[in-house]
Amino acid sequence: MSAASHRAAVSRRDVIRTAAGVAAFTAAGGVHGQNPSSDTIRVGLIGAGGRGTGALQQTLAVPGSNVKLTAIADAFQSRVDAALKAVENMKDKVDCPEGRRFIGLDAARNVIDLPDVDLVILATPPGFRPFHFDAAIKAGKHVFMEKPVCVDSFGARLCLEAAKLADEKKRKVVVGLQRRYDNRYRETIARIREGVAGDIIGGQVYWNGGAIWYRDRQKDQNEMQFQVNNWYHFNWLCGDHICEQHVHNIDVANWVLGGDPAQGYHPENAYGVGGRQDRSRNSEIYDHHAVTFSYRKGVRIASQCRQVGGGDGRVNEEFQGTKGFVRIGQITDYDGRELWKFEGPAPNPYQVEHDELHDAIRNDKPLNNAFSGVAASFASVLGRLATYSGKQWDYDKALAMDYRLMPENPTWESAPPVMPNAEGQYPLPMPASFKVVDVTKLGQS
Ligand SMILES: NC(=O)c1ccc[n+]([C@@H]2O[C@H](COP(=O)([O-])OP(=O)(O)OC[C@H]3O[C@@H](n4cnc5c(N)ncnc54)[C@H](O)[C@@H]3O)[C@@H](O)[C@H]2O)c1
Repeated sequence: MSAASHRAAVSRRDVIRTAAGVAAFTAAGGVHGQNPSSDTIRVGLIGAGGRGTGALQQTLAVPGSNVKLTAIADAFQSRVDAALKAVENMKDKVDCPEGRRFIGLDAARNVIDLPDVDLVILATPPGFRPFHFDAAIKAGKHVFMEKPVCVDSFGARLCLEAAKLADEKKRKVVVGLQRRYDNRYRETIARIREGVAGDIIGGQVYWNGGAIWYRDRQKDQNEMQFQVNNWYHFNWLCGDHICEQHVHNIDVANWVLGGDPAQGYHPENAYGVGGRQDRSRNSEIYDHHAVTFSYRKGVRIASQCRQVGGGDGRVNEEFQGTKGFVRIGQITDYDGRELWKFEGPAPNPYQVEHDELHDAIRNDKPLNNAFSGVAASFASVLGRLATYSGKQWDYDKALAMDYRLMPENPTWESAPPVMPNAEGQYPLPMPASFKVVDVTKLGQS
C-alpha cells in the first residue's frame, strides 16, 4: 500500500481506539501504553534493509517474550519483501498482511500512526532518524533506533527534545550502539570506575578499514531515488562515515570519560583533518578523518577513521590512566603486567539490546539511551565539521547553530539538497569554501 493512500483511509474508529487505549493504559498503569490488556509487544519495522532486518530478527527472538511483527515500512517494495522473507522461519511471530506494509519516503508515518504498534525499530538511513524518533515518541511508542541518531544540529536538538518527552511518557529507548550492551566493554568500564587504571588522562579510538559499498545508479532511477538507495555517500542521509561508523568508537570515549551513563557526556571541542584519497568514486563524503577531541579536565582523545583499501585495519579503543593502560577486556601497568583481564561470558550484544529493551518495557524499568546516543552522534558531527572546515568547533555552540542538512518532507519528485555539477560530480567539502547551511532556508533572502 502506498503511504499516502493509507493515511487518507485512517478511520475515525482508529482514532477512538487510540484514545481509549491510552486512557486504559493510564488507568491501569500498564507498561504498553496503547496495549494495556495484552502482553504481546507489537513491533513496527521502519527501514527494512540489512540492519533493520537483523534488529527485527533479534527482537522477535527475545527469549520468553510474546512479540509480533505487525507493520513494516520502507522506501522500496523489494526491501519489505526481503525482510518478510528473512523472518519466514518465525511465522508465528509475524502478522503483517498486505494492508500493513507501506512503501515510500514518507511510509514511516503510517506505521507510527498505527495504534496497535507498541515498539518501533528505526533503521532507515540516519538523516531521517530525528524525525522518525520525534514522531514515534509523540505517538507513545517504545523505540529501538539505530545509530547515528542525527547528522546535523537541527536533528540533534530534535532528538534531545524527544528524549526528554520519552522520559516524561515512560517510553523506553535503546540506541544501536551495541558496545554498551557488550560485557567486555561493560566490565572494562566497571574496572575503570573502580580505579584499576587510575585517572584516565588520554586515549585513542579507531575505525580504520577498507572501502565502503557503493550502489551504482540504475537506468530508471531519478536523482532522489539514486541518492536514497546509495545513501552512504550523501551527507544529508548519512553524515559521512565519521558519523555512520566511527560513532561507535567515539561513543566509547564518551562512556569511559563520562559519569552517569544515562547522561550524554561529550567532548568540549574538536579539531582535525580529513579528505578523500580515492577519487574514483563519485561521492560527497571523505574517506578518512583524524580528529582530536578535547574533553573536560584537559583529557584528549585522538580519533581516526578510514575507508580506503589496503593498509592495516584497526577498529578499537585504548585509554591511558595514571596507573595503567586500558584495552577493552584488559588492563596492564606500563611494564606490561596484567592488572585485570576479562574472563566472563559475552553474549551477542545485538541480542542483549533487545532482551533488555523488552525487560524494561514489561517491567517499567528506566531505559533511555537517547541522550548518550545524541552525544555520540553529535560529537561525530562535530568531528566532521572540524575536518570539512579545518577549524576548531565548540560542541555547545555547534549544537545551537542553524545547521540542517535534511529538507522538509522530501519526496521522490523533489530535488535532493546536493546535486551533481555539470560534469556529474558531487561537491567535495573543502576548508576554504565550507559553509554551515540550513537547507530549508537556502534560496531565501
Ligand atoms: N549497530 C550496527 O552495528 C549497525 C550495523 C549496520 C547498520 N547500522 C545502521 O542501521 C541503519 C541502516 O543501515 P543498513 O546497513 O541497514 O542500510 P540499508 O541500506 O541496508 O537499509 C536502509 C533501509 O532504509 C530504507 N529507507 C530509506 N529511506 C527510507 C525512508 N524515508 N523511510 C523508510 N525506509 C527508508 C532503505 O530503502 C533501506 O531498505 C544506519 O543508520 C546504519 O548506521 C548499524
